Amino acid sequence: MNNILVTGAAGYIGSMLCTKLVENKKNFVTAVDLLKYDKNSLSHLYKNKNFKFIKEDIRKESVIKKIIKKQDIIFPLAALVGAPLCEKFKKNTIETNINSLKLMIKNLKKEQKIIYPTTNSGYGVGAKNKFCDENSPLNPISLYGTTKADAEKIVLKYGNSVCFRLATVFGYSYRMRTDLLVNNFVERAIKKNKLELFEAHFRRNYIHISDVVDAFIFAIENFKKLKGNTYNLGLSSANLTKYSLAKLIQKQHKKLKITQIKNKSDPDKRDYFVSNKKIESAGFKATFSLENGISELIKIFEYSDVKFKNNY
Ligand SMILES: NC(=O)c1ccc[n+]([C@@H]2O[C@H](COP(=O)([O-])OP(=O)(O)OC[C@H]3O[C@@H](n4cnc5c(N)ncnc54)[C@H](O)[C@@H]3O)[C@@H](O)[C@H]2O)c1
Repeated sequence: MNNILVTGAAGYIGSMLCTKLVENKKNFVTAVDLLKYDKNSLSHLYKNKNFKFIKEDIRKESVIKKIIKKQDIIFPLAALVGAPLCEKFKKNTIETNINSLKLMIKNLKKEQKIIYPTTNSGYGVGAKNKFCDENSPLNPISLYGTTKADAEKIVLKYGNSVCFRLATVFGYSYRMRTDLLVNNFVERAIKKNKLELFEAHFRRNYIHISDVVDAFIFAIENFKKLKGNTYNLGLSSANLTKYSLAKLIQKQHKKLKITQIKNKSDPDKRDYFVSNKKIESAGFKATFSLENGISELIKIFEYSDVKFKNNY
């Protein structure tokens, strides 16, 4: 039996990860979350015998000590996520994204494993026609980016760990986020039939949420091989500009009008292509296409009557 702890379990990634982990009866999943945003995203799992939910705040050391006991693998996903939210709640951001991670590591036994997601947004502005790899310098510009870059260092120093620098994630989750670029563009395309783009030439890398979950499971199964390293995790065929992304959406939603706004700058300065060769050489390749993800999202925003709440 694998005892697996997921913090931030009710979140966009956590709820999809727990769902997949629980399918394997050899896993016992302990899910912890404060239920900040979505109170229903784990409801479908309560029936499972190999699933336990604890509503708690992982900033408390007493909670950490209790939840890490007897865990073999830990996914510390609880965090304040995204630049605007972290700017608004600076103290909570540092407590959640950094201090609680330090407290957790202080209380872990050496053999307990950590699999940790951070963001590739730290690459900031990449050179023209050059792909950022894991050795490219990190220059995070937001508090969110800085806490995630620092947290990655802390987790890597722990040693018995694997880190993933995630591309912008897209696709449906039990706790939906519509602030993520692809999800956001498709939502606006469907609801307004128009997209106004500024700095449309900015490049990004993307990955579907099911590939993220599969990569995490790959990391459990290949931990020894991957351990002590950080890996970019994105869909290699999906390194494209905001404009190309909008055009892909337009292919499936013909009514969409795309306009470019020339004199407005994006506070999010991310502009880079990312190489995912390191994880691909280790044996994992993301495959869920952007086209399929767009088609999935179009149906979600056309047919669902759920009001999706964002973090801020
Ligand atoms: N989604 C992405 O595109 C992306 C990209 C890169 C990295 N990540 C990382 O993946 C992780 C999960 O992100 P997400 O997109 O699922 O975000 P999310 O906001 O959907 O989930 C975070 C969860 O953490 C919980 N939480 C926050 N503070 C808590 C606390 N003190 N105690 C207990 N629970 C708490 C929230 O209730 C929420 O359910 C984060 O560490 C994030 O930095 C996400």
